[in-house]
Amino acid sequence: MNICYVNGKYLPKKDSKISIEDRGLNFSDSVYEVIAFKSKKILNYNRHLTRLERSLSSLKIKFPFSNVKTLELIIRNLINFNTLNNGFIYLQITRGTSVRNHLFPKLQKPNIIIVLYNSKSTHNFANGVKVITIQDMRWKRCDIKTTSLLANVLGKQTAEDKGVYESLQLNNSNDITEGTTSNVFFVVEDNLIQTYPSNNHILGGVTRDIVIDLAKKNNVKILEKPFNISNIKYIKEAFLTSTTVGVIPIIQIDKMVISDSQPGRVSKKMMTLFNANSKKQMNTINE
Ligand code: PDD
Repeated sequence: MNICYVNGKYLPKKDSKISIEDRGLNFSDSVYEVIAFKSKKILNYNRHLTRLERSLSSLKIKFPFSNVKTLELIIRNLINFNTLNNGFIYLQITRGTSVRNHLFPKLQKPNIIIVLYNSKSTHNFANGVKVITIQDMRWKRCDIKTTSLLANVLGKQTAEDKGVYESLQLNNSNDITEGTTSNVFFVVEDNLIQTYPSNNHILGGVTRDIVIDLAKKNNVKILEKPFNISNIKYIKEAFLTSTTVGVIPIIQIDKMVISDSQPGRVSKKMMTLFNANSKKQMNTINE
């Protein structure tokens, strides 16, 4: 059974419908979240909710549930109605359906889609992935998690076409900001990790924030400062973070091999801490 939630109804995915005049379809006038669940428990719900509320208010779309508990209940129902134990919740909220016109419709009734997906097989990622750098072609509000993802889609496909996992975005100053679907961290000294600051040029990842908190709690220093590609030859390690893959080591950037093509010590440490943190939540929340 593959049950999703669309505008108040739980129904099989194959029977779900959204209007051809949905503003998400016509204008990418919509926001989304990808949230992990493990053993049917929702992970990091409050952090995703906070970002969702921020994305909605940035686009002036009203939070379309009576309260935050209602949304949590819908997601929990959906997880219980489906057979998947582990996977991802994809939640999309659009400004709604209206005759195509750039202006906001007078009456806004957001369309809500919630659907579950299987976990990707990530066992190979623990050995590290290769990445390339590309020019960042995105707009100036990358901090809003909108479905306006064309530059990310093209960047990710470029990576795939070159046989690597991810493309890292280079801004006009040649700073590496983030990946097309992930945030990026550089281990610049034995116990010092550098990552781009959380501002309008990156999506402030939930995984990123958790990794930063875990690092600080475990005596690993974090420097939130733009990392310039001219310093790439000095790094000791690098890793990516996202909800869908957790923490994954990088073993090559463009032509440069990193930490002898092996996941580095700090990357492995952060991977272990992150996985332990997810496990801990599985045993303590959503009871
Ligand atoms: N992407 N940066 C970008 C551009 C992203 O698209 C994502 C996640 C991240 C990491 O954010 P988080 O840790 O909250 O997942 C950073 C999701 C998974 C996606 O679009 O599928």
